[in-house]
Formats: sequence, structure tokens, C-alpha cells
Amino acid sequence: MAGAIHESPLQIFMTILGIETSCDETSAAVVVDGVLRSNVTATQFFHSRYGGVVPELASRAHQQRIVVIVAKALDRAGVEKSELDAIAAVYGPGLVGSILVGLSFGKAMAVGLNIPFVGVNHMEAHVFSNLIEDPKPSFPFINLTVSGGHTQLVHVKAPFDYTVLGETKDDAAGEAFDKVAKMLGLGYPGGPIIDNLAAAGNPKFVEFPRSYLDEGSFEFSFSGLKTSVLYYLRKIGYDPTTQNGKLVADICASFQSAVIDVLVHKTVAAAEKHGVKDIAVAGGVAANSQLRRRLSELAKERDYRVFIPKMEYCTDNGAMIAMVGYLKMLEGKTSDLELTAEPNLPLG
Ligand code: KG4
Ligand code: ZN
Repeated sequence: MAGAIHESPLQIFMTILGIETSCDETSAAVVVDGVLRSNVTATQFFHSRYGGVVPELASRAHQQRIVVIVAKALDRAGVEKSELDAIAAVYGPGLVGSILVGLSFGKAMAVGLNIPFVGVNHMEAHVFSNLIEDPKPSFPFINLTVSGGHTQLVHVKAPFDYTVLGETKDDAAGEAFDKVAKMLGLGYPGGPIIDNLAAAGNPKFVEFPRSYLDEGSFEFSFSGLKTSVLYYLRKIGYDPTTQNGKLVADICASFQSAVIDVLVHKTVAAAEKHGVKDIAVAGGVAANSQLRRRLSELAKERDYRVFIPKMEYCTDNGAMIAMVGYLKMLEGKTSDLELTAEPNLPLG
């Protein structure tokens, strides 16, 4: 067996600080010898009043919070700055102004302490978020990252050896949840609201389309589904100011089922195609109760092992950045101090 990270004979004594600021979470974490010692996150809830993340406000909030968040992460880990062996920070993909705050802070701290700096790809970090705590998937595994900005299926053969099987051609899964919630006159972020309301709804109330694209393709598309919901709401003359509770629940359940059917179908097809038994899920949409239920049912039926991290490691977090920083340090992969923010950084 290729084995999980905790079985690695390469365990080396190293203390890493990880910094995440790619969107609206300011987060820092400390990993000591591959074990997470702290993870402190400040979420910018104020964006909800604008119905989405406002980039300028996000970067200003990171700027205000970064010093305190890093200090708390060190304090909770019981680690002094002088004990750090490297600083890891996200450098993309994400909002450029937000990334620049954590990246500049991380580089400056590394220079001040005269230790290496490690730039981390945010999507790579999500892939490794299932390696933060036990139980961990063994290599090779299939990873589905589903968040507000990304929908991506990855075949992970070993640390830093992976193939992106497919991603979304338009909206991310979480983005579709957020946009449909907006059409329905619900709040932001829409995912948890739709998830809650759907529990009391009929998933067969409206037969919304499932976009599987070509059979065998691992690409996703959710904009057609979003448009179908819009046309349906127009057809029935839906008025968000006079919502009918049962109708909203039925629409939420029908929409949610259409998204989850596609996510589950493609993830399982990827696992079958590559003969992989371990499936890992990451990103904010991993909180979805139907996705969790469907995957765990399938796991029992078909003998898969499904891994979904704790919620604080599903959403954006410093722990996954620190963990990738640690793995990169094991392989001697440090970054040049001229590394710049890459808002569209691809995986691989
Ligand atoms: O990973 P995340 O915290 O931030 C990034 O986008 O990077 O993911 C946030 C996304 C939002 O689109 C939110 O609506 C969605 O995750 N989300 C959910 C649920 N909880 C959060 N989507 C469906 N069901 C949920 N329970
Ligand atoms: Zn993310």
C-alpha cells in the first residue's frame, strides 16, 4: 500500500506556520512534525449584507486581522516565533488583493526570522485537507473539491503527484447554491440555507436538468441548471417578497438534488475508472447534508471509504496551508521571495 502521510518514513522535525487569505477567511495554523497544533480563523461575515464577497473590503479586513490571527495561532500552539522552521502562505488562486495581504505578511515574517518561505496553491491545499486529521485517505484517492469558487475532481496518486480529471466550465457548485438562493430571496451564503430548507421539501417536485455533459467526462456545468430555476420561477410568477414556505422547500430540495446527483455520479465514476477505493471531499459544499448522506450510503453499498474533514477544515483554513507547507519542506520545495500573487493559479 502506498500508505498515508502519518505512516511516512520521511517524518522530519519541523515547525511550520501556515497563512490563508485567498478569499474572505483570515486564517493561520501551526503544524509541528506533520501534526496540527492550532488553527485560528476569522470569517468576514459582513459580506452577507452585500450578497457576496466584496474584494476591496475583504483585503482591508485581512490587513486589520492578520497580525492578531497569526499571534493567536502561535499562542494556541505554544510555539514561539523563534521556533518556526518555515512560513507557508497561499499565493493563488483567489482574490488578488486578499492573497497579497497574507503572502506579503508571510514573506516579511520569513525574512525577519531568516527562515524559508513556501508558497502554497490553495486548490492543492484543499486536496490535502483530508490529511490534517485521522482517519486519512491512502494514496491513490479521488478528491472532489466543491466550494463557492471551485468544483474540481482530482486523481491524487501521491503527494504532489495528481491529475485534474475535470472542473466546472462555468459556475462552481457553491456559486450555484448562492445564486439560486438569491433568486429565491433567501440570504447569503445560500448553500446552508438551501440545505436546511430542502430537508422539508420534495426533491421530485420539479425535474430540473442534470448536466452530465458527455458520458465519461469529468467536467461540470451548473449554469444551465441555474437558468432552469430562473425560468421555472418566472413561469410560476414566483415573488420572493411573499414566499410560500412549502413551495420554497420543494424548489430547494429539487435544485439541491440536481446538483448532488451530478457531484455524486461523477465522483463515483472517477473512482471506478481509476480503480480507487478512497474518496475525499473538501470545500464549503462538503457541509451539504445530502452530499454527505449519499456518499456515505454509496460507501456502504460499494465498499468505498469516504473522507470529509471537520467543517473548519472544509472551508478555507490555515491548517491545510501549513500541512502542504510541511510536505513541501520535506521535499525541499521552498519558494523564491519574488513569488507573486496568482489569482488564476491552476492546479498541477
Ligand atoms: O470553501 P468555502 O467556505 O469558500 C470558498 O468558496 O472558497 O465555500 C463556501 C461555499 C458557499 O458557496 C456556500 O454557499 C457553500 O460553500 N456551502 C454549502 C453548504 N455550506 C456552505 N453549499 C451547500 N450546502 C451546504 N450545507
Ligand atoms: Zn477554498
